[in-house]
Amino acid sequence: MKIIDEIKKRASKVKATIIVPEANIDKRVYDACKSILDNKISKLIVFGKEDEFDDSFKTKNCQIIDIAEFKDLNKFASDLYELRKAKGMTLDKANELVRRADYFSMMLLKEGLADGVVAGATWSTADTLRPALQVIKTKKDKPIVTGITLMVKENADPKVFADVSLIENPTSENLADIAISGAEFIEKVLKLEPKVAMLSYSTKGSAKSEMVDKVRIATELANKKSNYLIDGEMQVDSALDKSTAIKKGVTSKVGGEANVLVFPDLNAGNIGYKLVARMGGYTAIGPIMLNFNKPVNDLSRGSNVEEIINTICITKLLV
Ligand SMILES: CC(C)(COP(=O)(O)OP(=O)(O)OC[C@H]1O[C@@H](n2cnc3c(N)ncnc32)[C@H](O)[C@@H]1OP(=O)(O)O)[C@@H](O)C(=O)NCCC(=O)NCCS
Repeated sequence: MKIIDEIKKRASKVKATIIVPEANIDKRVYDACKSILDNKISKLIVFGKEDEFDDSFKTKNCQIIDIAEFKDLNKFASDLYELRKAKGMTLDKANELVRRADYFSMMLLKEGLADGVVAGATWSTADTLRPALQVIKTKKDKPIVTGITLMVKENADPKVFADVSLIENPTSENLADIAISGAEFIEKVLKLEPKVAMLSYSTKGSAKSEMVDKVRIATELANKKSNYLIDGEMQVDSALDKSTAIKKGVTSKVGGEANVLVFPDLNAGNIGYKLVARMGGYTAIGPIMLNFNKPVNDLSRGSNVEEIINTICITKLLV
């Protein structure tokens, strides 16, 4: 697909090293890393013993780290302890955690030994993201991390769906931040003018309830906080179809032209993107986590090799 080829091409030009911690325990991740290295798309760090990897991994573009033998484990443990002691971390616990691939990855990233992490093919989203939230944290001006997907299909305009993987029951304030983050992503990564629809089951006051108010207030907040084109609340048919938008009173360019869809909660977002992928024939790239100090991306446990490669490429574009 053209857009995926373009993403891969641009990712290959970014100088960055991505940590992929599950290559030695999952065949899909192994194959994805092998393809990334064979095609010179990225430098990688993988974990395990040398004899677990073939020659594709034994080049200057790949570092194989045996965690148990890593020289700075004690330093990592004391750094993790300092970082989390106010939250109840003990030195013993930190020593145990840094020996785990998930926390070890985050410590490598935090200490500047790599530029991004792609993990979660064998772990739950929560298990991948909790260490990242605790260790990597959000960028200074960003209160939340949000998980989006990029939905792509041949001969169709790409769309960002947000939030689809992280924030279970966002407040209006959270939704406003999600909208702005989605807009920044499509502008930075796809170089498109963002048109953000704040989705609801109501369009412009057609229904009245607390659920609708949450999205309406979020739209007002997002517009106060940014100059992006953000409109709502609106139903998804108004966001995607111009004539419906006009009939329902959506007069902005977002109506019928939206390229960022902000869902009111995680049920809607997660179900929504999977419906579009399974029934609409779109490819979902992601979930892609936005606003971490350094990019960390979570793989779905259902990911295939191509999806893992795509996620590594997107991670490079966020560096
Ligand atoms: C990701 C998740 C595990 C975080 O859970 P949590 O209970 O808030 O985790 P913790 O309390 O340990 O939070 C860790 C830290 O991250 C912070 N945090 C949590 N969510 C955050 C977010 N979206 N943005 C920024 N920081 C966040 C917390 O404030 C906390 O900070 P602190 O400990 O430094 O004060 C939780 O939001 C979750 O399970 N989400 C759903 C994920 C999921 O199952 N998705 C499935 C679809 S793919």
